Amino acid sequence: MEEKVIDENRQGEFLMVENSNIHKGKKLLLESYGCQMNFSDSEIVASIMSEAGFSTTRDPEEADLILLNTCAIRDNAEVRVRGRLNYFKSIKKRKPEMVVGVLGCMAERLREKLIEEEKLVDLVVGPDAYRDLPNLIDQVDSGQKAVNVLLSREETYAEITPVRLDSNGINAYISIMRGCDNMCSFCVVPFTRGRERSRDPKSIVAEAHDLFNQGYREVTLLGQNVDSYKWNITSKGEIITEGEPTVNFAQLMEMVANVSPELLVRFSTSHPKDMTDDVLHVMAKYDNICKYIHLPVQSGSSEILKKMNRGYTREWYLERIAAIRRILPTAAISTDIITGFCGETEEQHQETISLMAEVKYDLAYMFKYSERPRTLAERKYEDDVPEDVKSRRLTEIIDFQLKCSTENTKNYVGGTYRVLIEGASKKSPDFYHGRNSQSVVTVFPKGDAKPGDFVDVHVTSCTAVTLIGDVVAHYPRTSQPS
Ligand code: 5AD
Ligand code: SF4
Repeated sequence: MEEKVIDENRQGEFLMVENSNIHKGKKLLLESYGCQMNFSDSEIVASIMSEAGFSTTRDPEEADLILLNTCAIRDNAEVRVRGRLNYFKSIKKRKPEMVVGVLGCMAERLREKLIEEEKLVDLVVGPDAYRDLPNLIDQVDSGQKAVNVLLSREETYAEITPVRLDSNGINAYISIMRGCDNMCSFCVVPFTRGRERSRDPKSIVAEAHDLFNQGYREVTLLGQNVDSYKWNITSKGEIITEGEPTVNFAQLMEMVANVSPELLVRFSTSHPKDMTDDVLHVMAKYDNICKYIHLPVQSGSSEILKKMNRGYTREWYLERIAAIRRILPTAAISTDIITGFCGETEEQHQETISLMAEVKYDLAYMFKYSERPRTLAERKYEDDVPEDVKSRRLTEIIDFQLKCSTENTKNYVGGTYRVLIEGASKKSPDFYHGRNSQSVVTVFPKGDAKPGDFVDVHVTSCTAVTLIGDVVAHYPRTSQPS
């Protein structure tokens, strides 16, 4: 997946797990950084650790074990985690028996460094080795350092039931695949998360059913590149098991949408080179598939896209946007953009702005290029755009996007939208917040509705990114189906 960044808002959130047996009484503090996939992985880790007997705490002082699920996508993500590790090191001086471990994307790259040189951690575990966590913790308890950063071609944690962390009981993530085979030249993910593999669709649909039965009303299907989801078929089109159906992403999404019309389906992230019209047609066919597509462009210049090894041109990308507008005229579109990639000229930067003007994105996540070790770009191109130029270009695209977002938000005023209530508005306790199908945050007076209910909201005003309105119809959450 294009490691999606909304989650940087949730950086360092503390996560809660129920108690169980073997390490009974031991306390775990689990912090997650980075993308939705990492937060979803933390729910797998929580499940494994809960089975092993750990319960969670938010207080580092009372923790027996601290696990940081880390992100390596840009240098600043790593800097933040190092800061946190140094803080835990200071606690460990007073509490030497406390175990500190690094999980996730920094594990593979920094294992020796973190353990040997900097003596910051006791335990390093990569994204495909979480089942081994209880053994590795035993190893640390017996006085050794423990490392498992092996990447797998098969691991999907398919049958592990995630422990829903910090859950509102309404929205949940479902991982549908792991790893990435794309090798975009700037991206470290193929090195930290390994080869792409898809999860058994039966286990995905079963998880969606379970969530619905527990009262959840929205699932987000997660993968580094959901459009290349495939089951029982190789990338060359060969059937793996005769007699068993093959499943692609459009088909998988339809299977999940059919769990219940009252279960909303979202997904992330799409890839412009792989997103088919079939996916768009399935989205159009089901009201409960939200009309929102995150389609990272990265750059508006075909030359830069080629150097980025993205597998499409500006024209191809704009054709995919035209397909979305044709098949899903109400859909919102968001993107990721990297500014200041190796050799990016002023004209190429302007091409990005002109593409933004053409697409009129609803939302964009924008970053300065950050060179990552081992990537193709690091080996092949010079990171030659000066820092001040990167900063100036970033400011320009952010300012431009703010105008587009504000304009797009205004277009919803006067309309009525179905919204799933997610909870009380942070700013005003008498209001609820939720999102419409296009993922625009909508706030409205509570009335007698409850979180998990659907409401139709007539939008009367807006701020730059939030809609404000009144409830005109209310659909209470149905009693739990059996
Ligand atoms: N530098 C800056 N941004 C990056 N991204 C991925 N790798 C890098 C990098 N080396 C951005 C891309 C991706 C998003 C999640 O993070 O835009 O889509
Ligand atoms: Fe996304 Fe490309 Fe990185 Fe894969 S290699 S995770 S498609 S940015």
